[in-house]
Amino acid sequence: MAGPELIIYQDPEELAAGAAERILRAAAESIAARGRFTLCLTGGSTPRKTYALFAQQHGSAAGTRHVSPDTELPAEGEEYDLWPRTFLFFGDERFVPADDDRSNDKMVRESLLENAPIAANHVFAIPTYLPTPQQAAEAYAQTLKTFFGGVAWPEFDLVLLGLGEDGHTASLFPGSAALRVTDRWVTSSPPGTLPPPVDRVTLTFPVFNAARQVMFLVSGANKAEALADVYQGWVSVDQRPAAGIRPASGSTIWLVDRAASRSLLPKGTNVL
Ligand code: 6PG
Repeated sequence: MAGPELIIYQDPEELAAGAAERILRAAAESIAARGRFTLCLTGGSTPRKTYALFAQQHGSAAGTRHVSPDTELPAEGEEYDLWPRTFLFFGDERFVPADDDRSNDKMVRESLLENAPIAANHVFAIPTYLPTPQQAAEAYAQTLKTFFGGVAWPEFDLVLLGLGEDGHTASLFPGSAALRVTDRWVTSSPPGTLPPPVDRVTLTFPVFNAARQVMFLVSGANKAEALADVYQGWVSVDQRPAAGIRPASGSTIWLVDRAASRSLLPKGTNVL
């Protein structure tokens, strides 16, 4: 069986441009098929450029037809309104105030929300103002259940994920108890070994694996070993949690830059 699709870009700028274009394509397909686009955002620093491009280049969608996101569908190929039909969520969050420089909410606000004409009630941030990460996790799970309705698992149209150099993704860290949470949509997690050393709130494997599409964005030589281990399937989920991202019926695509790809072996390489 062919592995997940892998696209290697020359540099972080081309990676960002390619990712923004592919996110827009996923939006158009989702809106045409279901009248809305549910996008789960990754945190970290890699996606900043992608979010800025996505907002600026596509903020004023070609769309001319304003329809209710729930009732009417754009006819095949018809122009559509991107932002009135887009709903944004977070795959994980650092348990810090929303104005803290380590906050994914802050990063997304600065790179995407301040540049895109999206309504505030279309953006669902993880409530780190609550007293504990556990309470924030429970509240966010409720937010998701209210939005997605009475389903076993939410089916995001697109989930964006990053990769830590230790192979973590979202806030699912090596050896963490969160890796074994299979009965909840959202869980809390103590800090991983990589900065920032703060408590986290993260969606769980069953939620990520229920997505229609998962898109990894990976940039930098420091990710090369983890990327090779995960993409080539050589490691356990406990060692490199990103290996646990295996959508049941959805697709996975890896968008990486050359620096991150340097440990990927050409197909057919004999490793003795
Ligand atoms: C976070 C992210 C995390 C991130 C990776 C890669 O909250 O930090 O969700 O999973 O995607 O750590 O981070 P960089 O893009 O900063 O390398």
